[in-house]
Amino acid sequence: MSALFQPFTLKDVSLRNRIAIPPMCMYSANDGLINDWHTVHYATLARGGAGLVVVEATAVSPEGRITPGCAGIWNDELARAFVPVVQSIKAAGAVPGIQIAHAGRKAGANRPWEGDDHIGEDDLRGWQTIAPSAVAFGAHLAKQPKAMTLEDIARVREDFVSAARRAREAGFEWLELHFAHGYLAQSFLSEHSNLRDDAYGGNFDNRSRFLLETLAAVREVWPEHLPLTARLGVIEYDGRDEQTLSEAIELTRRFKDGGLDLLSVSIGFTIPESNIPWAPGFMGEVTQRVRREAGIAVASAWGFGTPSVAEEAVKSGQLDLAMIGRAHLGNPNWSYSAAQALGVERAAWTLPAPYAHWLERYR
Ligand SMILES: Cc1cc2nc3c(=O)[nH]c(=O)nc-3n(C[C@H](O)[C@H](O)[C@H](O)COP(=O)(O)O)c2cc1C
Repeated sequence: MSALFQPFTLKDVSLRNRIAIPPMCMYSANDGLINDWHTVHYATLARGGAGLVVVEATAVSPEGRITPGCAGIWNDELARAFVPVVQSIKAAGAVPGIQIAHAGRKAGANRPWEGDDHIGEDDLRGWQTIAPSAVAFGAHLAKQPKAMTLEDIARVREDFVSAARRAREAGFEWLELHFAHGYLAQSFLSEHSNLRDDAYGGNFDNRSRFLLETLAAVREVWPEHLPLTARLGVIEYDGRDEQTLSEAIELTRRFKDGGLDLLSVSIGFTIPESNIPWAPGFMGEVTQRVRREAGIAVASAWGFGTPSVAEEAVKSGQLDLAMIGRAHLGNPNWSYSAAQALGVERAAWTLPAPYAHWLERYR
């Protein structure tokens, strides 16, 4: 009996299996507005059989986009554009989720295939970035952000709230707050990027404040019966791992008390130089520790794209959900391939009937 193909229920939402597609930017929107590319892309992924499809980092404000091509949800027109995406994911039997995000000092960059670096100062496509402190990320993202005022902090928190409300109105059933990857929220938490000396910087309580306040404010508008989740970088691989991880676990306990239902465990990425031990499923043990010590459901990504690796991680209790990203870009029917590889009986039934019938019948 495969662990990966067992259903998973969180709040009132049931996933048909433990396979989730993590948010992956398509960098293909115009002024935040998504289009047919996104609908076809997400429909294709959902048809492959995953239980959950989390739509890419979607900016809560224009300045929160990583690149000019990033999706946005800062007004009702942008939100309405997600309705066909939601419908196509649901029609394929998956649960539609969305990650809402603010890229902070990593915003205003060129698309990955156009350089991945900050858009130049004289280029009109760029914009002033904001962050807890006026400290640049460095390397290819060297632009200095403006340190946020207390008014900026309150505004961005409210932008998350409006984005959450619009996401629900568009029909999403699973919300992920992007608190990871060196973007705005993660840069509040990290001592690498937060040098403030007010209530939002300094000690752990203060560095956590923006994240906890944002969660609490979103909790007010996101329905109680639907999963409210976050993605958090719990470790930087910068030589301070035990301290960072202990803080992240304590923060996750506070998230849980504040109404969080699941943590997607990831990497901090707040500094260009780190020593990440890339290997298949390498985040599994860290994720299990968060699960055990914070007592919350967990997901994780990074190298679970080999079916046996994902199966073992779920079976051994490291993860509740295996997030399979790049492997789905290469093979949207990854779930079917995984079911075959793991010897799941009637593997073809991970696909819609117009495909499954023929594959099952004429194997
Ligand atoms: C094209 C691409 C876009 C991504 N965009 C996002 C994003 O919007 N939000 C996010 O949290 N992670 C993003 N990621 C990271 C993925 O969610 C995931 O963590 C990563 O691909 C590792 O999982 P994998 O080994 O299964 O691919 C992106 C990754 C890729 C390849």
